[in-house]
Amino acid sequence: MEIYLVGGAVRDGRLGIPVKDRDWVVVGATPEAMKQKGFRQVGANFPVFLHPKTGEEYALARTERKQGRGYHGFTVYSAPDVTLEEDLKRRDLTINAMAEHEDGTLVDPFNGLADLEQKTLRHVSEAFAEDPLRILRTARFAARFHPLGFTICADTMALMREMISSGELEHLVPERVWQEVQRALHEKSPTVFFKVLHDLGALDILMPELANTERFEAGLQALQCISTQDSTTAQRFAALLSALPEPEASARATAMKSPNDCRDLARLLCLLTGWLSQYNGADLPPENVLDMFDQADLWRRPERFELLLATLTCTPQQQHVQPLKLAAESAQGVSPQALLKQGFKGKELGNAIRNERLARITQALAP
Ligand code: CTP
Repeated sequence: MEIYLVGGAVRDGRLGIPVKDRDWVVVGATPEAMKQKGFRQVGANFPVFLHPKTGEEYALARTERKQGRGYHGFTVYSAPDVTLEEDLKRRDLTINAMAEHEDGTLVDPFNGLADLEQKTLRHVSEAFAEDPLRILRTARFAARFHPLGFTICADTMALMREMISSGELEHLVPERVWQEVQRALHEKSPTVFFKVLHDLGALDILMPELANTERFEAGLQALQCISTQDSTTAQRFAALLSALPEPEASARATAMKSPNDCRDLARLLCLLTGWLSQYNGADLPPENVLDMFDQADLWRRPERFELLLATLTCTPQQQHVQPLKLAAESAQGVSPQALLKQGFKGKELGNAIRNERLARITQALAP
């Protein structure tokens, strides 16, 4: 049996950037031979094994044929006669389809190295079209390598457009789309991911609320700003959706099955930006500020409120961040315990807390 390093590790090694995971392909072996060497099989019917010591993935060379639509229905064929080249041919991009022999020799039948040097993202073969997730992966690699000057070549853009117009994206389950979106939000240039999808017409299907040019531009601007900071996925997602009316942002987050913290921050940010947009240059009414603090549950979720304001600094409503911050700090100082000690109880206690908070907010917002 012959063992080769493949995929991202070869690509990143040649780019001179740190290698995260190493994946290996084994040619000329059987599952039995692997198990004899102490490898553990990952799934009963899938020819992937874990190394007994390193835990790294070793896959038997395989070919894949698609039978159904979308992400289902792949028939995997692996046998000792499957060649390395056949295995590389089923892969997505040429820069991901290089292999390195244990002795360091590069095996590169699809000219991945030349594409790496020319900073081109190019599909390996027509088999690219068998997996619609690759549209998102390609956009994500464009986002990751944008600072290095990489672009997607015209042929691959054309192939992805064909895939989209034949309805392939509709077969992706929300979980897989979210996984790619989440990763993309943390790539080096996350806005490039969404620009590519917009350009391809994929956003009309995946996030139609965002396809409108004005909202899209505003969302990208906010995302660009927040992604230059050490920000969370929820902040980046909320920034992206920040120009949407709140019901649409909430509905999209739910449909995409984004985690609760992402959905909630997006919802709150859209409520906030929508509400604040009425007060450009004007003072904020303290009553409404208090209602907003209640809605955001400032009292029990102060850390989330901080993330919310940090994200608001990346929107056109950023002028309100400082006053809101001061008002929040001041209102948080109200002590329910102290009011209890003064003898307030039940509904009266609630009213007293509210009045005290309102007084402090009014004072903090006073010019
Ligand atoms: N691959 C593919 N099509 C997919 C997923 C993966 O062709 N839909 C292939 C690519 O050759 C890829 C390899 O499987 O290089 C490993 O996939 P993965 O670990 O997801 O990506 P990496 O290229 O290693 O990138 P990352 O740095 O994001 O881990």
